[in-house]
Amino acid sequence: MTRRILFVCLGNICRSPAAQGVFRTIVPTHTVDSAGTSGWHIGRPPYAPMQEAALARGIDLSDLRARQFLASDFELFDLIIGMDRDNISDTEALRPPGMGTPVRLLTDFSPHIGKDHIPDPYYTGDFEGAFYLIETATKGLHDHLTS
Ligand code: 4NP
Repeated sequence: MTRRILFVCLGNICRSPAAQGVFRTIVPTHTVDSAGTSGWHIGRPPYAPMQEAALARGIDLSDLRARQFLASDFELFDLIIGMDRDNISDTEALRPPGMGTPVRLLTDFSPHIGKDHIPDPYYTGDFEGAFYLIETATKGLHDHLTS
């Protein structure tokens, strides 16, 4: 059963903590975490504009702290979810030989939104739009896991 889910983005201060915050609210019984493929923001809380966009939708991210994705995460989680194709390739580059843990794009679970990745709001400035996409796709992921 898929009970341990890790969301991955580049910095672990915008998209993946938002997905973690949405998922843990829907399914408090699952182990859920997030990580960045970079180590640029290790130890920092989610970026303030992302926290504001999440809080406006009832999701509190203030306790989360950034960490870097590690090869050992392939053993600690049942499913790894990236926000864009760079996240997928950077994650796959650390896959230990023989580990079969699936790595998927979050947008795979929300085909109806018509996006093939979650645009990075750190660069686009559209935190509300990114949060909406993340919330919709994360709910789609939950539906997929429970159907
Ligand atoms: P995230 O966004 O990958 O969604 O956390 C970013 C945050 C910070 C940076 C890049 C992306 N940065 O270049 O510092």
